[in-house]
Amino acid sequence: MFTAIASVYDLNNTLLSFGLHHRWKRLTASYVPVVTNGRALDIGAGTADLALLIEPKMGEQGHVIASDLNHAMLAEGLRKVTGRGLRERITCLQANAEQLGFPDETFHAVTTGFCMRNVGNLMQAFMEIRRVLRPGGRFVCLEFSRPAYGWLRSLYDWYSFRLLPWVGTKVARDRTGVYEYLPASIRTFPDQERLTALLREAGFRQVEYRNLTGGIVAIHVATK
Ligand SMILES: C[S@@+](CC[C@H](N)C(=O)[O-])C[C@H]1O[C@@H](n2cnc3c(N)ncnc32)[C@H](O)[C@@H]1O
Repeated sequence: MFTAIASVYDLNNTLLSFGLHHRWKRLTASYVPVVTNGRALDIGAGTADLALLIEPKMGEQGHVIASDLNHAMLAEGLRKVTGRGLRERITCLQANAEQLGFPDETFHAVTTGFCMRNVGNLMQAFMEIRRVLRPGGRFVCLEFSRPAYGWLRSLYDWYSFRLLPWVGTKVARDRTGVYEYLPASIRTFPDQERLTALLREAGFRQVEYRNLTGGIVAIHVATK
């Protein structure tokens, strides 16, 4: 599915979120600490927006790994990284969140944006993330969540279960099923409190979250 949408992913993201995803990602990056000679990992990096935002925080000798399971998405990311002249600073690497393959305690920070709800075994991914973080390192997770107000939930349900699939089939003539998958994957993903509990269960401490746009998305911050 991601292979089919990779070339239009950024445009779709901007249209479907009314441009809000740029703000959500900037705020997510603001929770990444500034580090001297830092090492950071962005998981499910896709077209590399978050990797590009956290790169300046890693200091002069810093480095960011933008990792993703999907080659086509990562190829779009690499195009952006190359366009900004940052190939020395950001490495695009194919990797599964559930089996990261880096040594223990490699990174000062791990970020992820809209990836975790696609992962097969969420707890396995959280334990992998904790393993590759240095002690005191921070995990910042941006993901769709549960709107905090009843009226917003109703509006959001209409948008995602009715309007979005209609636009997908009638306007975008989509055959991948992405416009049905997107709202379904959002509904089955743990809400703010449940995700907090799962992160604690995976061994993280100081787990906190912040709702954005009335809880349509949330940023979870957790420390190893
Ligand atoms: C919705 S996109 C988000 C891309 C980018 N982070 C953003 O915020 O725009 C989700 C990404 O997660 C990747 N992904 C899905 N399952 C994954 C896994 N198990 N490990 C790593 N990446 C995964 C997909 O290939 C896709 O690029």
